[in-house]
Amino acid sequence: MTSHSTTEFVVTPGGRLEGEVTVSGAKNSVLKLMAATTMASGTHTLYNVPDIFDVEVMCRLLESMGATTNRRPGVVEITVGELTPVAPFELVEQMRASTAVLGPLLARFGHAELGIPGGDDFGHRPIDMHLSGLETLGATFTSSADGVVGEAPDLMGGDVLLAFPSVGATENIMMAAVMAKGTTRIENAAREPEIADLASMLNKMGARITGSGSSTITIEGVTELEAVTHRVIPDRIQAATFLAAVGVAGGEVLLREARYDHMDMVCQKVGEMGLRTSPDRNGIWAMGPGRLNSVDLQTLPYPGVATDYKPFLVALLAVADGTAIVTENLFAGRFRYVDELVTMGANIRTDGNHAIVRGVERLRGARVKSHDIRAGAALVVAALGADGETIVIDDGHVSRGYPDLAGDLRALGASVETRPAS
Ligand code: EPU
Repeated sequence: MTSHSTTEFVVTPGGRLEGEVTVSGAKNSVLKLMAATTMASGTHTLYNVPDIFDVEVMCRLLESMGATTNRRPGVVEITVGELTPVAPFELVEQMRASTAVLGPLLARFGHAELGIPGGDDFGHRPIDMHLSGLETLGATFTSSADGVVGEAPDLMGGDVLLAFPSVGATENIMMAAVMAKGTTRIENAAREPEIADLASMLNKMGARITGSGSSTITIEGVTELEAVTHRVIPDRIQAATFLAAVGVAGGEVLLREARYDHMDMVCQKVGEMGLRTSPDRNGIWAMGPGRLNSVDLQTLPYPGVATDYKPFLVALLAVADGTAIVTENLFAGRFRYVDELVTMGANIRTDGNHAIVRGVERLRGARVKSHDIRAGAALVVAALGADGETIVIDDGHVSRGYPDLAGDLRALGASVETRPAS
């Protein structure tokens, strides 16, 4: 089991990366699939489950409501019967993805209580779109300092137009609509592969969802669902972390299980920088030829370049040839790791949601701190190409999303160790 304690990654720069690494199941899929199990009694089995801290938090959340969970490597079994539809504050505050139980609980029990959402420390992350979409289906909410209480004795299908293609709002509304009376249409829905994965599991459970993966999702309500077995899609963000690693260090690697069709845009972007990638029968093959070129980029909802890729891409640009302008369009404040890269010798200036990255030949090892899952991983990646040892102090963020980042990078020949923080 991974733990949420303070760790140091110790990175000693080495040579090119060679070999292969297996990408685990997607964090941002499995957590929602686990939430969806609350909608049907019986034992659900999920395969390709990553051994990460957030899965443990979701198990605890489901158990606190009355479900039982059983984990073995790569598998989680969840047995659901009658549940108490209350997601306690102390668990919800640990993990933003806990909000995914709101739609399922309202659908099945007509009542749900949710502590205030916590999660990564990158700005204000409201759930107003989740709530207004669920209100369109007939739910009502009261909010207090402790959280949100929802009532939905009779969910009815309706047309929901999202102001922004929010991943979490699309998922919550889609799950609630599965058991609402009549037809729901979500317009401007998020199109992330994790949403299509969730819809695919819900359809196996008996839901009638069409259009997932596109901007319009249609859901015909059903009255009952059943427990199922489902395999989680691979984690595209983890795969992008390894792509960036080979970009920084050079070399040739195979990312087993990674799905090129989920990563077209990021592969195109790193391709413009000079990193070669191609789909392989077993995953994605990648080759880093040496120093890459700068390209401008902006984060966008899928199929654009995901905000989660950005820290790795900035780490690549920090040592690329030329100047790039990087624009963050999703989360305000998601540039905190830039100060840490600057400590390592990067030449980056931020202005609001823009960063100007002037590539330097080499970074230098330093003692830096990680502020969220992706920032921590990006600092480790950047350190692969620095002169001298880097220590990334991480208070548990990286293990929330990566089963064994250090071990995976070691499998590719990098020198990355973890130890308790000194
Ligand atoms: N937003 C609102 N109101 C809402 C919902 C969202 O204003 O009701 C805003 C957010 O504040 C943000 C934007 O809309 O500015 C996008 O948020 P979205 O709802 O799409 O994100 P999320 O569902 O909270 C998921 C992933 C994130 C990933 C984003 C964007 C999970 C558990 N998290 O978050 O992943 O960055 O989508 O793709 O699925 C990570 O894995 O490290 C991570 C943070």
